[in-house]
Amino acid sequence: MANLYPPLHFPKDKGRFIQVARHGIDGEIEVNGQVYNRPMPANPMLTDLEIAEITTFIYNSWGGESVYTPIDSVRSALRKFSKGVDLRAGSPK
Ligand code: HEM
Repeated sequence: MANLYPPLHFPKDKGRFIQVARHGIDGEIEVNGQVYNRPMPANPMLTDLEIAEITTFIYNSWGGESVYTPIDSVRSALRKFSKGVDLRAGSPK
């Protein structure tokens, strides 16, 4: 199991975090030099506000930040993404 699922982590790119939270991920990711490729299901029921709250919580609790992620940041990150886009690292977003 240890090799199937990546350790809990969050991308430096907050926009990517937001996109993954809503749309899930299908494709390879690399964490600490190791490649993982498990599907994460989409979370279409999460509202923009809930994603803003989750993003704020994660980056403040684990990322050492002390800023709120505003709902507008969530909306603009999600606008850049259309369903079906490949979320692999380095792919166009
Ligand atoms: C609010 C809920 C969730 C958030 C915010 C979240 C966020 C994330 C993030 C940020 C990543 C890393 C993406 C990257 O490195 O680019 C990830 C990976 C992953 N998540 Fe989630 N996730 C959520 C719920 C779930 C659920 C419910 C499942 C499973 C049922 C799941 C399964 C996975 C898996 C398997 C990966 C690794 C993907 C891979 O190996 O390619 N996640 N998630």
